[in-house]
Amino acid sequence: MKYFILFGPPGAGKGTQASSMVEKYNLRHISTGELLRKEIAAGSELGLKAKSLIDAGALVPDEIVEGMIESEFRTVKGVAGFLLDGFPRTTAQAAALDDMLAKTSEEVTAVVSIMIPDEMIRERIKHRASIEGRADDANDETISNRIKTYHDKTEPLVGYYKAKGKYHEIDGTGTIEEVRAKICDLMDRF
Ligand code: AP5
Ligand code: MG
Repeated sequence: MKYFILFGPPGAGKGTQASSMVEKYNLRHISTGELLRKEIAAGSELGLKAKSLIDAGALVPDEIVEGMIESEFRTVKGVAGFLLDGFPRTTAQAAALDDMLAKTSEEVTAVVSIMIPDEMIRERIKHRASIEGRADDANDETISNRIKTYHDKTEPLVGYYKAKGKYHEIDGTGTIEEVRAKICDLMDRF
């Protein structure tokens, strides 16, 4: 199995690019953000717990998302691999992922990182807010906290994966099609 991590700040285009990548490379897309939003919509206990943290622009506890990922790995069959979007987001989650994969003598294949500057994050999220109505896109303070959380807790993963020789960065500032072409050039190598 191949395990790709689609990395990048909020609004970088992870979800946008994931849909064509899963088709082209026969991957299962796992977005922890989408899984959490489904729990919220279903009104589950987990969803209730996650909602206040997501609305504040904070991360949900590592164990919750690690459990979601492990259960997807166990149950999804018939694909060439997985495309992880929004996971891992802390060094603890990255270490937990390594441990999960080590159980079956597997490892992360590559990290595909889509990078955009903070100002573009705000523009893209504001644009999406008018289309999708995501609760965590609606308020400037939440967006600022998501950007801060990204820099404080998630950006250290760049060094984590560089040290393992798995980190590949793509300029995410072009059009959707330009970014897609760069991602495909990279993915074709694995
Ligand atoms: P999550 O759902 O993962 O949100 P996020 O990381 O903030 O990322 P987004 O989904 O906002 O951005 P995206 O990169 O997918 O951009 P998109 O393609 O939509 O997480 C939500 C919350 O859940 C977190 O804050 C946290 O609380 C919790 N959570 C999730 N995972 C967790 C974890 N592992 N641990 C703990 N907590 C976790 O694009 C954005 C917009 O830009 C769209 O409108 C799109 O059309 C547009 N766009 C995209 N590309 C381009 C382009 N090239 N040019 C112009 N416009 C573009
Ligand atoms: Mg997304």
